[in-house]
Amino acid sequence: MGPGDGLALLPALNDATGPAPHVDLVEPSTALLEQATDALQAQGIAHRAHNTTAEDLLTTHPDQRWDLAQSTFALQSLPPHERGPVLHALAQRTRHLSVVEFDVAHVPDPFDPHWFDSCLQRLERGLREYENERDLVGTGFILPVVLGHFATHTRTNHEHSVQDWAHDLEQAGFTHVRTHHLCDYWWEGAWLLRAQGRHTG
Ligand SMILES: C[S@@+](CC[C@H](N)C(=O)[O-])C[C@H]1O[C@@H](n2cnc3c(N)ncnc32)[C@H](O)[C@@H]1O
Repeated sequence: MGPGDGLALLPALNDATGPAPHVDLVEPSTALLEQATDALQAQGIAHRAHNTTAEDLLTTHPDQRWDLAQSTFALQSLPPHERGPVLHALAQRTRHLSVVEFDVAHVPDPFDPHWFDSCLQRLERGLREYENERDLVGTGFILPVVLGHFATHTRTNHEHSVQDWAHDLEQAGFTHVRTHHLCDYWWEGAWLLRAQGRHTG
């Protein structure tokens, strides 16, 4: 779900052992989806591409089931009222779930100078990692995320803590929810959450 151009998906598929998987991609960005499918095609990985949102795919394909649903930094795009039904549907229709998200503490007051100062320091550190794409990342990704904390701007992401993610999965019906710290990223720590769904057929 939300593979973008396949940056995180392709290495995982390449490292996979066992029978070659069949992959369904669901990605609302046409341009990114094309890059991901071109790469899958080049590597001979069987796939279907759905140029839409996860919530739309789940609604329009009610009989579809999956062995594994996977998302890296994409489920945070869904506002809580849309994320709940998506997770609930996935819990019924997948055997396993694997999600990577940042562990982001609740921001009680974005006007708190301590929060804003720490935010600025992390953003400066992060932007230094980019060269040619620095402006694109800054204005296209980072600014909307920061401004989303202020009521004047529509939120483009809905991050929260890893404990809240685990709670969301359990509430949706997943079992055996496990969390695993992956790495400390400039924004926040990245965590892997794995869980078992109820689809056993
Ligand atoms: C931060 S990017 C992560 C891309 C990729 N997973 C990676 O790790 O490189 C978030 C991705 O989620 C996609 N996305 C946003 N809303 C979505 C939704 N409702 N359903 C599925 N994908 C969504 C975006 O188009 C974007 O490609």
